[in-house]
Amino acid sequence: MPKLLKQSDRFKGPEKPIPPALKTQVDPVRMPKHVAVIMDGNGRWAKRRGLPRVVGHRAGANAVREVVEGARELGVRYLTLYAFSSENWKRPKQEIRALMALLRRYLREELEEMLHYGIGLKVIGNIDLLPPKVSQEIREIIAKTSHCGKMTVILALSYGGRTEIVEAARKLAERCLAGEVRPPDIDEKSFSQHLYLPECPDPDLLIRTSGEHRLSNFLLWQLSYSEIYFTPTLWPDFTKEEFCRAIVDYQKRDRRYGGVSV
Ligand code: FPP
Repeated sequence: MPKLLKQSDRFKGPEKPIPPALKTQVDPVRMPKHVAVIMDGNGRWAKRRGLPRVVGHRAGANAVREVVEGARELGVRYLTLYAFSSENWKRPKQEIRALMALLRRYLREELEEMLHYGIGLKVIGNIDLLPPKVSQEIREIIAKTSHCGKMTVILALSYGGRTEIVEAARKLAERCLAGEVRPPDIDEKSFSQHLYLPECPDPDLLIRTSGEHRLSNFLLWQLSYSEIYFTPTLWPDFTKEEFCRAIVDYQKRDRRYGGVSV
């Protein structure tokens, strides 16, 4: 285990609910079904404190827990978290090792709570590229929580939006060659059935922290009509309160999907 991830570090503290005054601003009828998050700014958070980047990721893991709790409390059905992109393999080996160790430990520590609250885990991306111990643990947790239907947490791991689209195109091309699909029958619906999680609705809301305003190869197909909430908050400082504020902000928006307001 990397030196900065001591066994004694605890992710868990007592759970603090969303303040009632804020929670009452949320309209339960207009709750986004699916929220996706680009968790950015762990490195800068650490740098500002003169700490190694790994410490920022560790603080980021606490924010993950906080936001999963917030989403559960508010009744968000799907939460997708961009935890490791296909481009993140370019990072220093030590940082990748630390991120993988963190991920494994986080999942282990959260399993009991996930089962308690009926939270299922799913993954998008190529987890075969992760260290075998990590991918094995992830597969086990996916299996152990497969009956949990209250909420689904989707981790994007070794994930790239363009790769997902290319893989879907390849699967469709193979099916065409096998005579199972006719090219004129391919439309948006049948195409999207070949993406990683066809049963999951597109995100209603995308949150990106740390003041960056880009998609970074995240859910390129699925985010076509999502509302976007950008915040300068660095990911480790992102709380369930701010998650709730993002939802209140989302609920004020007029989603027209290219049409006009009624
Ligand atoms: C971006 O910050 C963050 C990541 C690349 C990884 C996200 C990982 C976590 C939140 C912690 C572990 C995850 C789980 C699911 C337990 P950055 O390093 O790019 O920050 P910077 O842009 O400030 O350098």
